[in-house]
Amino acid sequence: LSALPEGYTCRPLQKSDYHAGFLDVLRVLTKVGDISEEGWNERYEWMRGRNDEYFLLCVVNGEGKVVGTGALIVERKFIHNLGLVGHIEDIAVAKDQQGKKLGLRIIQALDYVAENVGCYKSILDCSEANEGFYKKCEFSRAGLQMAHYY
Ligand code: ACO
Repeated sequence: LSALPEGYTCRPLQKSDYHAGFLDVLRVLTKVGDISEEGWNERYEWMRGRNDEYFLLCVVNGEGKVVGTGALIVERKFIHNLGLVGHIEDIAVAKDQQGKKLGLRIIQALDYVAENVGCYKSILDCSEANEGFYKKCEFSRAGLQMAHYY
């Protein structure tokens, strides 16, 4: 993997990231809501109990603040000879940190995990506006997304 800017690190999500700006980074992506620490802890523990399936990464700056994040969810299938598929989700870089290749490094790190846990591919959904970014990350257009909201 290539380097992050000086002083930045990439590591798994930690419970204490509730206080390190993790949810604020996600707010550049979409509505997050008002999540209590109790609610956070419960969801965090649920994911930690599935740590061969949920891989959430953070990029942290020199002051320990979360400035970027991304997730890989590994789906177990019957098809493709009990194949595994990686789902890349919730990629976000703080507005004032965009353009420093943090997004690219997050995708490279998630790709590395996906390949090493045995996924035969990783897939994601994005807007047309982000197509160029994912092309730079070596993804290519495949299929069509459909959604049914409840
Ligand atoms: N269109 C075309 N090219 C782009 C775009 C874009 N929207 N964004 C970045 N790039 C290019 C960069 O110019 C760079 O190219 P270069 O290597 O030639 O210099 C390359 O892609 C890598 O860019 P990064 O600096 O790594 O991008 P950044 O750290 O700013 O992260 C991201 C990109 C994650 C899209 C960020 O802008 C962001 O958080 N946006 C808001 C939230 C969002 O839309 N997230 C993605 C949702 S889709 C999903 O989660 C599956």
